[in-house]
Amino acid sequence: MHRHPAPPARAGAERLLALFRRAGEGFVSGSRMAAELGVSRTAVWKQVRSLREEGYRIAAVPHRGYRLTGLPAEPLPRELAAGLATAWLGRHLVAYEAVDSTNRAAMQDPALPHGAVVYAFRQTGGRGRLGRAWATPPGSLPFSVVLAPALPPQRAQLLTLAAAVGLVRGIEAAAGAGLDIKWPNDVLWRGRKVAGILTEARSDADRMVRAVVGVGLNVDTPRGAFPSGVGARAAAVTEAAGRPVDVGDLLRAVLTALEGAFDAVLDGDPARLEGLLEAYRGRCVTLGREVTVTERAGAALRGTATGVDDLGALTVRTGDGRTVPVYAGDVTLSSEPLPGRGP
Ligand code: BTN
Repeated sequence: MHRHPAPPARAGAERLLALFRRAGEGFVSGSRMAAELGVSRTAVWKQVRSLREEGYRIAAVPHRGYRLTGLPAEPLPRELAAGLATAWLGRHLVAYEAVDSTNRAAMQDPALPHGAVVYAFRQTGGRGRLGRAWATPPGSLPFSVVLAPALPPQRAQLLTLAAAVGLVRGIEAAAGAGLDIKWPNDVLWRGRKVAGILTEARSDADRMVRAVVGVGLNVDTPRGAFPSGVGARAAAVTEAAGRPVDVGDLLRAVLTALEGAFDAVLDGDPARLEGLLEAYRGRCVTLGREVTVTERAGAALRGTATGVDDLGALTVRTGDGRTVPVYAGDVTLSSEPLPGRGP
């Protein structure tokens, strides 16, 4: 099922929900609803029924009216949009019940504007970095941000770095837990991955036409639900917070922080970009560590991670004294086992 932002036909539902919001915990009588919406009481009842089908819990008590007692467990676009204070990010929201990959959907729908966010409750063909598959177990939320950045293609990595900083800030704001970043795209809590980022871009000769920044966010994923081999290295936001976290609040905080971080890359102000890179370096647990970088072709590079340069590459000082920029690859920190050699 494919849900677009409230089409005009849903305006009645929107107004009904606005009435409920104004009433807070209180009841709203059926006749008042009918009067405010300019429809019959039967039409109000039908509207209530269809909201219930979407997961809203609405109590109906004779002589008192209706009362909103619960929101859908999964955040619908209108619930996310209510209270979202961004200027451009997430002003256009698209939700799928299930989709192969939100990145694919975001890249392929030409109607989606800059700042659109596509999210799903289930992903059947999620994509990870370096051509890997990305599982979306229950309790994790995959979403993708559409950007039309006026940037040269070699700056795409900066969008990944910005997303990492935005995620750290947003998750910390909503969950109050301290997070780190592992270069380039892992958001960690106590060394375990809470979110991963995959940036994909379509470019012409000298600039990106469209970039999609995809985020797999483990909101409330039970430990046992991660694929085997991943569970020990994964964590959920609720675990980091030590309490339940409302997914709508979390996403609003994350989208707000992502907007600020993307602006630092997109608005062309060098001081702002430097500030973002400094924030990234300050959170990056890779820096100063002995690392082994396995690149796509399988070649391994060993050395000390000394910095993150202004294109987002990791700089590695090797034993023979060279400093090599690394643009992509799997980084293993010295205290970690090498990939493929067990947990
Ligand atoms: C990683 O390998 O760490 C990156 C994982 C990124 C996964 C997200 S889930 C939403 C979006 N859609 C995809 O198919 N992939 C990204």
